[in-house]
Amino acid sequence: MTMHTPMLDEGGQHVKIGKERFRPQFHFTARKNWINDPNGLVYFEGEYHLFFQHNPYGKDWGNMSWGHAVSDDLLTWRELPIAIPQTDQMIFSGSVVVDWQNTSGLGDGRDPPLLAYFTAFDTERDIQSQHMAFSHDRGRSFTHYAGNPILDLGAADFRDPKVFYHDPSGAWIMVVVLARAHVIQFYRSQNMRDWTLAGTFGPQGVITGQWECPDLILVSVEGATDQSHWVLKVDVDEGPVDGGSGAQYFVGSFDGYTFSIHPDLGDPCGALVDYGPDFYAAATWFNLPATQPGPVWIGWQSNHQTGRHYPTDPWRGAMSLPRMLFLFEEEGRLRLGQKPIAATDGLRSEVISLVPGPLGHGVNLKLGNSAQAFWQHLALIDHGEGRVEVTVDDSNGPLITIGLDCVGQQIIFRRHMIAVASAMPQRGHFVRLMTIQLSQMVRVDLDVIVDGSSIEIFVNGGRRVYSACVFPQGPTGTRVRAISGATSIGQATSWLMGSTMSF
Ligand code: FRU
Repeated sequence: MTMHTPMLDEGGQHVKIGKERFRPQFHFTARKNWINDPNGLVYFEGEYHLFFQHNPYGKDWGNMSWGHAVSDDLLTWRELPIAIPQTDQMIFSGSVVVDWQNTSGLGDGRDPPLLAYFTAFDTERDIQSQHMAFSHDRGRSFTHYAGNPILDLGAADFRDPKVFYHDPSGAWIMVVVLARAHVIQFYRSQNMRDWTLAGTFGPQGVITGQWECPDLILVSVEGATDQSHWVLKVDVDEGPVDGGSGAQYFVGSFDGYTFSIHPDLGDPCGALVDYGPDFYAAATWFNLPATQPGPVWIGWQSNHQTGRHYPTDPWRGAMSLPRMLFLFEEEGRLRLGQKPIAATDGLRSEVISLVPGPLGHGVNLKLGNSAQAFWQHLALIDHGEGRVEVTVDDSNGPLITIGLDCVGQQIIFRRHMIAVASAMPQRGHFVRLMTIQLSQMVRVDLDVIVDGSSIEIFVNGGRRVYSACVFPQGPTGTRVRAISGATSIGQATSWLMGSTMSF
């Protein structure tokens, strides 16, 4: 039995979404029309806010405005009216902070204002500049600051301000990107309105396409919470992941002025955040409550290469699960890991477990639920040169194949989208391989979370992640098949996932 916790509108009335094909149930989607990046993620007065890039008038990118949703658990979202509509300029991505001390002077003398920092895109002049706006009603509406723009370089590709407070150096920091130059800039401010350039980073790592949506995050090392390092993440719209968009990160230090890579900490060439085509523009929450370990981020589960063709209706674009970040050591270097926030476990019901045992050759074992939303945990043990294939399929065949090759110490992901792709341009883009190396494959743990058109695969507790959209033609399930060598199943458990929206 799935739980049906209906989605509520602002006045607490139930919203009937309808049984739309492909609509995820516990991943955020807008009721209708286009969405892309998460924006302005902030926790304030008992509410998690999710603002997002939104076209209120259509299913394609355009008229960019900030849509708005709130939640008290990061999983059950209530969509509210548009928070920042486009003006004569489009409202591009950015962040929101709480101005606790009324440092900006934009408060109303009662409650701390929420300050939104975003890029205003003047399409006539082809100029992107940084603006701010403030809210006195818990993010329901914003007033544009009279002194805008707060940063204007006269540049066409200057965007996506991420603002946070840096305690050690006593300043508000803005991280913003020169998208085509592949340069991240760091600005400092004492009054939250006037900003001074303090340092830059890049070009570095993947420098194809455009750099977008930087975030600078202090992340703890798993199992050593007193040890943390700065992670600089930047998205790349084209290049790092075939058939999609991707993000890279660097591990290093930040002194309040500039970010420096530490070659003995992380890979100086950068590493991929997610190996799938559909995880983009992730941003972390500001001001998480003590009850929610962090950092936590959420990404747009789509991409700038193929996402505009995704055949969903009347909505297009979804958010990933909220994921908690951690650093872990592998082969002498620190890497970024991501796992679903603990509350996600609360959506699971109806456990079905298989008895552990050897995986005979040729056996095609059906594991998962034939359901629209399920979570499959699978641990595979290699007894020598094992090659195993795990698939997520619908009645027509595989949607995603996960090939585990213990000899080559690699996992090969393949996204199949024949049925949908044949009706679309750029067909070739939809069937793609991604190979990732692991340092050991004696035991591999896979968590496969399927929710309508969303698939997120967490390898070894989130040490690698692969996210993709698929468009099943019927109920989905998982299967496992031994191809060669000797392997066994150490654990196989599947859960149905409860719905947080009414269907
Ligand atoms: C990333 C992005 C941002 C921009 C926004 C526009 O997906 O291109 O760089 O601010 O989306 O919608």
